[in-house]
Amino acid sequence: MMDRSQFLKRFAAITLLSSTANTLFGQQRIGEGNILIVYLSRTNNTKAVAEMIQKEVGGDLVALTLTNPYPEDYKTIVDQVEKENESGYLPQLATKVKIGNYDTIFIGFPTWGMQLPPPIKAFLNTYDLTGKTIVPFNTNAGSAWGIVLKHSRS
Ligand SMILES: Cc1cc2nc3c(=O)[nH]c(=O)nc-3n(C[C@H](O)[C@H](O)[C@H](O)COP(=O)(O)O)c2cc1C
Repeated sequence: MMDRSQFLKRFAAITLLSSTANTLFGQQRIGEGNILIVYLSRTNNTKAVAEMIQKEVGGDLVALTLTNPYPEDYKTIVDQVEKENESGYLPQLATKVKIGNYDTIFIGFPTWGMQLPPPIKAFLNTYDLTGKTIVPFNTNAGSAWGIVLKHSRS
């Protein structure tokens, strides 16, 4: 019997495989050039998937952290994220990446409030990913990607 964490990891791996397949069947190929695996993880599910990916493809593994970290308490973070999503607030990232060093970027995140977490929106706003191969991967508690891929740079 799979426990919840195993299920989440399996689910995320399947989600990853389907997005990997989409990328491979397109014009781009994963594994050419330098690889960055950047992820946001509060309770380590996404981190575990990021580590699995690194084992498969190599590359640099980078955790996205904030200048002012989120509160530990679940209810408090859910309320804060809801407000941030409503106002469009983008938290300041403590993590700095030399994005020019990478050709393929895996971006991992949990679904938060049916959306991309604000730190991932901040990452997408901070860095110009034009011309790079992007492989999103996601973990969640059942609502799948939600509307997570609907984010445009502001
Ligand atoms: C602020 C917050 C909002 C969340 N919103 C959702 C959601 O809308 N749908 C969902 O399926 N899971 C939601 N979750 C659960 C996480 O997506 C899920 O537990 C994920 O695997 C956590 O990944 P992590 O361990 O890498 O932090 C939420 C978790 C948090 C902390």
